[in-house]
Amino acid sequence: MKKELNILAISGSLRNQSSNTLLMHAMIKLATPNLRFQVYDGLNDLPHFNPDLDIEEGPVPVQNWRERLEHSDGVLICTPEYGNGVPGALKNALDWIVSSGEWLNKPTIVIAASPNPMGGDKADASLC
Ligand SMILES: Cc1cc2nc3c(=O)[nH]c(=O)nc-3n(C[C@H](O)[C@H](O)[C@H](O)COP(=O)(O)O)c2cc1C
Repeated sequence: MKKELNILAISGSLRNQSSNTLLMHAMIKLATPNLRFQVYDGLNDLPHFNPDLDIEEGPVPVQNWRERLEHSDGVLICTPEYGNGVPGALKNALDWIVSSGEWLNKPTIVIAASPNPMGGDKADASLC
C-alpha cells in the first residue's frame, strides 16, 4: 500500500469563479487515494508582509498559515499569472514563510491556468 501523504492545496486566485481554483478541485478529485488534500483558502486573511511582525508569535492568520504548511508533506499550487509574475496575494503568503522556513524541502507541484499562449510560464518559473 502506498504511503499516505498530506497535501496542502492552494489557489493563487481570489476570484469567485477562478479557473485555477476549479482546476485545483478537479486535481484533488482525480488524485490517488493515498493523497489527503487540505485546501488552504486563507490568502485573503494574511496581513501584508511586514518584517516587524515577522516574529514567532506573529499575527494569528500567519501562525495558521505556517502551521498548515508545517503539517503537510507536499504542496499543490494552481495559480494565475498577473503582470508577468505571481499574484500579489500568493507572493505575500510566500514572504511570510521566508524566515520561518516551513516550505523548505517540500515537494511542490505548480500549475498555472491562463488563456495566454505562454500559459503563465513566468509565474510558474518564479515559484520553482
Ligand atoms: C491584471 C491581470 C494581469 C494579468 N497578467 C497576465 C500575465 O502576465 N500572464 C498571463 O499569462 N496571464 C495574465 N492574466 C490572465 C490571467 O492569468 C487569467 O485571467 C487567468 O485565467 C485568471 O485565473 P483565474 O481564473 O484562476 O482567476 C492577467 C489577468 C489580469 C486580470
